Amino acid sequence: MKDYFPIFKNQPQLIYLDSAATSLKPNSVIDTETNYYTNISANIHRGLYQTSQIASNQYDQSRQIIADFIHADISEIIFTSGTTAAINLVAQSWGNLNINPGGEIIITQMEHHSNLVPWQQLALQKNAVLKYIPVKNDFTLDLESLDKLITPKTKLVSLTHVSNVLGTINPVKQIIQKIKFINPQTLVLVDGAQSIAHFPVDVADIGVDFYAFSGHKLYGPTGIGCLFVKKQIYQTMKPTTFGGGAIQEVFWDKTVFDNPPFCYEPGTPPIAQSISLSEAIKFVQSIGWAKIINHEKKLTDYLLQQLSTIPQIKIFGPTINDNRLGVVSFAFNQPGYPAPHDLGDIMSQKFNVAVRTGFHCAMPLHYHFGFDTGTTRISLGLYNSTQDIDILIRGILESIKIFS
Ligand code: ALA
Repeated sequence: MKDYFPIFKNQPQLIYLDSAATSLKPNSVIDTETNYYTNISANIHRGLYQTSQIASNQYDQSRQIIADFIHADISEIIFTSGTTAAINLVAQSWGNLNINPGGEIIITQMEHHSNLVPWQQLALQKNAVLKYIPVKNDFTLDLESLDKLITPKTKLVSLTHVSNVLGTINPVKQIIQKIKFINPQTLVLVDGAQSIAHFPVDVADIGVDFYAFSGHKLYGPTGIGCLFVKKQIYQTMKPTTFGGGAIQEVFWDKTVFDNPPFCYEPGTPPIAQSISLSEAIKFVQSIGWAKIINHEKKLTDYLLQQLSTIPQIKIFGPTINDNRLGVVSFAFNQPGYPAPHDLGDIMSQKFNVAVRTGFHCAMPLHYHFGFDTGTTRISLGLYNSTQDIDILIRGILESIKIFS
């Protein structure tokens, strides 16, 4: 599927294994963004002239396409700059109003910083309690702990759909059912940064209250993301950033805000990006989930099997390809082998292989499992092939030789 991605025309030797950080962009997405700037380039909902009308229509349609993609109502989609901004929006617009001293927020030990720091800081500001669902030694969540962790004071559980380090897929529907059974008042946020490009998400079926994801991990542009908010939750939120485009009427001494989602989107929005994100969704739909899932599952099987042939490697995550995605982190299990940054450097310089090294924005998770100098992470996308993995493995073996 490399043909869809023009970066490979210019860099045919590139082995891109960092899709969990950001995915490459197909022609159709790049063309859509270029077309906006070349032929439209107007602001939305502000002009009666033709290009502004075209921009407004395309922008409005893109929100509908995104809503349909995750089975939401169009009014339930707030455009943000990405997952991080979406989670921060919940922390500020909902958390500030609903988290009081002694209130409890629960997250998991496998969150990346974007779904940890906002809650940690909110808990510190509000004198609230932040608790963690433990990760077990098999790299799945300890769901039995929910019986003790959730109390009548629990206001929110925020958890990732897929770990950006371990690759573990959390059974979020089952988890939400359990949370709501124990305390029906508890709201649940699911961080979909790592799931949205890899399998279908149905927010209605999952029963989630907030769902956050980024466009740039879904073969779309940077600078655009979405927050799904279940309609009735809007009653318990208030805008915390203010400006034009988010209001109905402004007086010297007061403002009448627009209805959600618009009251949460002040200022000129990411117009080109949102239109291009809907094009990315069309791209994914044109390939089809069955093909995407099958391709990535086979590649993940192959990757795990090939890594297992290198005895010095310790995989940080499930080694069986069951309820996991093609996000595989590892370190060497003995001294005298390249540290993650050294390995990443050699892989890039000598083999043109792009992998992520370090803590992958999840330091506490690494420390908890004793990976104190980080790990090397391989993450797969549509454009990867078994040949890419062969070159990766050759590169790892060569790097070991260079160091020994
Ligand atoms: N959270 C992103 C990653 O895992 C940036 O690389």
